[in-house]
Amino acid sequence: MQYLPIFTKLDDKPVLIVGGGDVALRKASAMLKARAKLTLIAPAFCDELHALQQQGKVTLVEDFFNDAHIDGHMLVIAATDNDIVNAQVHDAAQQRNIFVNVVDDQPKCSFIFPSIVDRNPITIAISSAGTAPVLARRLREKLETLVPQHIGPLAQLVGRFRNQVKARFKHFADRRQFWERVFDSNVVSEVQKGNHDAAYNELQNMLTGTAQPQGEVYVVGAGPGDPELLTLKALQLMQQADVVVYDYLVSDEIMELVRRDADLICVGKRAGDHSVPQERTNEMLVELAQQGKKVCRIKGGDPFIYGRGGEEVQVLAQHGVKYQIVPGITAAAGCSAYAGIPLTHRNHAQSIQFVTGHCRKEGQDLDWQSLAKPQQTLAIYMGVMKSPEIKEQLIKHGRGADTPVAIIENGTRKSQRVVTGTLVELDNLVQTHAIQSPALLIVGEVASLHHQLAWFSQQAQTSSFAQPLTEMV
Ligand SMILES: C[S@@+](CC[C@H](N)C(=O)[O-])C[C@H]1O[C@@H](n2cnc3c(N)ncnc32)[C@H](O)[C@@H]1O
Repeated sequence: MQYLPIFTKLDDKPVLIVGGGDVALRKASAMLKARAKLTLIAPAFCDELHALQQQGKVTLVEDFFNDAHIDGHMLVIAATDNDIVNAQVHDAAQQRNIFVNVVDDQPKCSFIFPSIVDRNPITIAISSAGTAPVLARRLREKLETLVPQHIGPLAQLVGRFRNQVKARFKHFADRRQFWERVFDSNVVSEVQKGNHDAAYNELQNMLTGTAQPQGEVYVVGAGPGDPELLTLKALQLMQQADVVVYDYLVSDEIMELVRRDADLICVGKRAGDHSVPQERTNEMLVELAQQGKKVCRIKGGDPFIYGRGGEEVQVLAQHGVKYQIVPGITAAAGCSAYAGIPLTHRNHAQSIQFVTGHCRKEGQDLDWQSLAKPQQTLAIYMGVMKSPEIKEQLIKHGRGADTPVAIIENGTRKSQRVVTGTLVELDNLVQTHAIQSPALLIVGEVASLHHQLAWFSQQAQTSSFAQPLTEMV
């Protein structure tokens, strides 16, 4: 290991920066965050550094550097644009065994500044030992998205209980077990929701032994398939759950991202193949939560758009089960974007209707009159099997036979296919191209823009979400 990562407490410790320009200012800001006692030496200083001196935050010494300036400092940073001065600072610090950083000159650094993910008090520092700073930055960006914001407040809460937990559990192993239980409990989701008092009470109850493990259901929208379209919240809850209840619409790549040791329960759902009846799924969610489990009920697209999420949440509410609902990108939004089809467009469509081709009961018919109106886009879910009827009814109620249509199969996934034509050809296109589920039908003039705007193939295929970190640059 070229550099040992250590976290130092700089509170009021003397630090010297040699330099008075922008680079020195940047380093000064970082040092002030850590509350260092900061002195800067340079023949002249920028206005911002003068302002910091007026605020009493730094001491400025207007002078040319000489070796003796270093004495008594814990860290030294050379931030001038003069290589000779920087080398002199380095040599003087080395002779005195004082840690030194020469900006942009890694061989002359006995300490370096890492890239930081800051979730105070949790801090993650990343370094490539100066070899690949861009890679380190990209890694930091990844971690920024993966490390939830609530980790900071969670650590603060836990810190408040440390002494009490030490007093209650004398043995390290017991303490460790207790904390493991806390991090698997509702304390985490309460902090996540910003309910700090509830989190505090829950933790207090766990400590006094009065808390019963309480389950919760996360009703999560997984989007149409590309894992990069997951929300951060969806990803976090997927990785927190003890049990994941999913159906076929959730793509394999997304299922790869659920917590490794979670139990997986498939409840099916394909047209004509309901492996688990909806009522049983509802009951199962309630039962699992009542056993104290954290259950991720993950659904394709958005749970409240043709996803039966509403029914499931009603049943949870009836049974007093706690739940969170995480919206997802619905198929109409995801598929149309990846197919280069804007759902509305000033020249072509002023409104959009989401429609299902799969009605609950026979005779529960669609309002064809309204659906056939011009200047609007129809996004038809589950419409493939009903395409002959859809075509017939729309034309019968006045929509032009030459209205452009698009069929998007496996939208946003690597296997996405887009087939276009006109309304009169709709069922024929389904047949000729052997369209498979899931597929979305788009009816309206906007469908003709596909050929002009479709750049999706590159987009879908360069998705880097699941790439190993080594392949990121
Ligand atoms: C039961 S509905 C669920 C819709 C989902 N809740 C949503 O918001 O997208 C299933 C239908 O959504 C559409 N769909 C979902 N994902 C799709 C995808 N990746 N590509 C094309 N159509 C999709 C298809 O019409 C499919 O038959």
